[in-house]
Amino acid sequence: MKLLNGSILLFSACILCTCSLRNDNSSSEEKKINAFLSRMTLEEKIGQMNQLTGMGLSNDMTGLVRAGKIGSILNELDVNTINELQRIAVEESRMGIPLIFGRDIIHGFKTIFPIPLGQAASWNPQVAENGARIAALEASSTGIRWTFAPMIDVTRDPRWGRVAESCGEDPYLVSVMGVAMIKGFQGDDLSSPSSLAACAKHFAAYGATESGKDYNTTWVPESQLRDVFLPPFKAAVEAQAATFMCSFNDINGIPSAANEYLNKNILRDEWHYDGMLVSDWGAIDQLIPHGIAADLKEAALKAAHAGIDMDMMGYAYTNHLEALVQSGAVSEKAIDEAVRNILRLKFRMGLFDNPYTTALDTAPYYSEDALQKAHHAAIESVVLLKNKNNVLPLLDKIKTVAVVGPLSDAPADQLGTWCFDAEPQHSITPLAAIQHEYAQQVKVIAKKGLTYSRDKNPQGIAQAVAAAQQADVVLFFAGEEAVLSGEARSRASIHLPGAQTDLLKALKKTGKPVVLIVMAGRPLTIQEEVAEADAVLYAFHGGTMAGPALADLIFGKAVPSGKLPITFPRLVGQVPIYYAHKNTGRPASNIDLIDDIPVGAAQTSIGFTSYHLDAGDSPLFPFGFGLSYTTFEYSDLQLSSTTINKNENLSVACTVKNTGSREGAEVVQLYTGDLVASLARPVKELKGFTKIILQPGESKEVRFTITPEQLSFWNHDNQLVLESGDFRVWIGESSAKGLEANFSVK
Ligand code: BGC
Repeated sequence: MKLLNGSILLFSACILCTCSLRNDNSSSEEKKINAFLSRMTLEEKIGQMNQLTGMGLSNDMTGLVRAGKIGSILNELDVNTINELQRIAVEESRMGIPLIFGRDIIHGFKTIFPIPLGQAASWNPQVAENGARIAALEASSTGIRWTFAPMIDVTRDPRWGRVAESCGEDPYLVSVMGVAMIKGFQGDDLSSPSSLAACAKHFAAYGATESGKDYNTTWVPESQLRDVFLPPFKAAVEAQAATFMCSFNDINGIPSAANEYLNKNILRDEWHYDGMLVSDWGAIDQLIPHGIAADLKEAALKAAHAGIDMDMMGYAYTNHLEALVQSGAVSEKAIDEAVRNILRLKFRMGLFDNPYTTALDTAPYYSEDALQKAHHAAIESVVLLKNKNNVLPLLDKIKTVAVVGPLSDAPADQLGTWCFDAEPQHSITPLAAIQHEYAQQVKVIAKKGLTYSRDKNPQGIAQAVAAAQQADVVLFFAGEEAVLSGEARSRASIHLPGAQTDLLKALKKTGKPVVLIVMAGRPLTIQEEVAEADAVLYAFHGGTMAGPALADLIFGKAVPSGKLPITFPRLVGQVPIYYAHKNTGRPASNIDLIDDIPVGAAQTSIGFTSYHLDAGDSPLFPFGFGLSYTTFEYSDLQLSSTTINKNENLSVACTVKNTGSREGAEVVQLYTGDLVASLARPVKELKGFTKIILQPGESKEVRFTITPEQLSFWNHDNQLVLESGDFRVWIGESSAKGLEANFSVK
């Protein structure tokens, strides 16, 4: 290790410069809001706080709009309907306040990008920003101006179906990707007709859901809440996310829709957020089954006290707020505060000046730019997990490929969860891409073997094996159907469904090299399958252009550069398994696995450390892991100092060299660990990363800055502290491998 001399900081791990969002009450916007509030009846104010799902131009809906009893509509898609409803709101309601139309545009509207977990595997925020921008351009053409994204729940549980929609297990990576999505959705100017208001969701700790079961309870100590689950939301405030959505779960017994501490003390008072907070779908009425409200009226009361501005599909506010205000249980000031947040959003979106959407003759979908960016995103989202004997990329000597597996030609499934508006006929599948783009190079024999991922019928296996026998290489596209991940799609067993493992084994028996390509909404437990396969590409659900992206990677037109955004367990029983774990008092050592233990061994013969007898202590693949077609060497770790003061930055650098024979991109990762502190701290935590492209033989110096804030943590007394003592820093290719050095903070 060498010391850096007065190095300049090239890369700052700080996500954004912070800016206060507290509105200035004297601004002209606030004056206009005050003017509205002074003229609105209580009923009209409560109307603004009501969001319902679209009912077209039904009498029920037009009546509500005309009477000013609704502030927002979700899931209305037809531009003419949207314009007509808007016309009624603006021209026929007494206050003339425009509506705002929302929809879940999670990873694309028509042109679908990889699922967010896949985008996170790119470790390239530009990928996420591009995806969100394209989604905004496409969706806003229908009149939708608000998306319920990004989902920035940190999660360490691959059983949870919504892991697909998340950016994985790490607060820093989730923050960076979430901020990039907010930028993409909102663009440079929120009031532009092509901008969508982003919605940071689900506030908060939804990803900690017990046993990975959706909507389940969470128990999160304050220090963990602050260190792990809240940072992406704080980053979203700093990135000026226009709206927030509360989560369904309770945290330590208090559901988010009734959580004053979270929504008021933290979000408003500490973070000075002045955007709008919407409930999740029916989350206010769900306070009743949660067991903290006896009826809908009490639910409305608790949500209003907790600062939920808008009730999504709950009817709690419309049915009960008026009486609650009249009885004095809820103050009109609280109502005004909520309506103020809603009107501010509508002003910021430019809806008062420009409420309508121009209906276009040709919808701006699937533009060349959109498809090219989706293609690129899908390439960057794929992680190469194994490549025995460099079977990939396929060389010219490969003349015939067998294209097998239920995901090889599944246009809807490759899109993944949360794409209500997608059109699978626009998906290009791996089979189609190979047949189309690489037909000159190879002969393709296609036999799916199984018709869908859960298919257990072995009848097609013989045909797939016959195809494999005629081929030089087998490309086996396995995984999960789209419907197996997403909201309420949790799984207790996360292996490849159906008879896919049997099919893989049968293919392997042919003696032909087998490339396993997994398209799934979550990490699957594929230990056995990885052992069988010669090469493994983990592609998540890659979206519209998943096929061309995979074909390019398989045939070597593109080089894999993805890294895992979440730890892959060997067995589901290891969950939760994540790299930023605590060391424990007895970290794993001298691991004896279950089959190594002699029969009749004494209880005391095999040691007493922290691991599973049947899985050991390591994951199948660690966070941050991913191979390339080239190789990288890390050397020359340098620190600006081995001792810093509490108010000083530390600069760290190393050299990364491409030691292979192909151009490749590498995600260089920075981790730190606090070795001795007043609370047991994670063994290491990601603090920065950058993706660099290197030509064969080329070296680059990569520098990072570590700020005092990044070395701080929330202590037992709920204070953010930086404690003196010894720290370790790593720069490397994954959470499990890197150059390391120690430093201390005085
Ligand atoms: C989900 C949200 C989503 C909302 C509206 C809820 O069930 O939890 O993430 O935005 O529905 O569709």
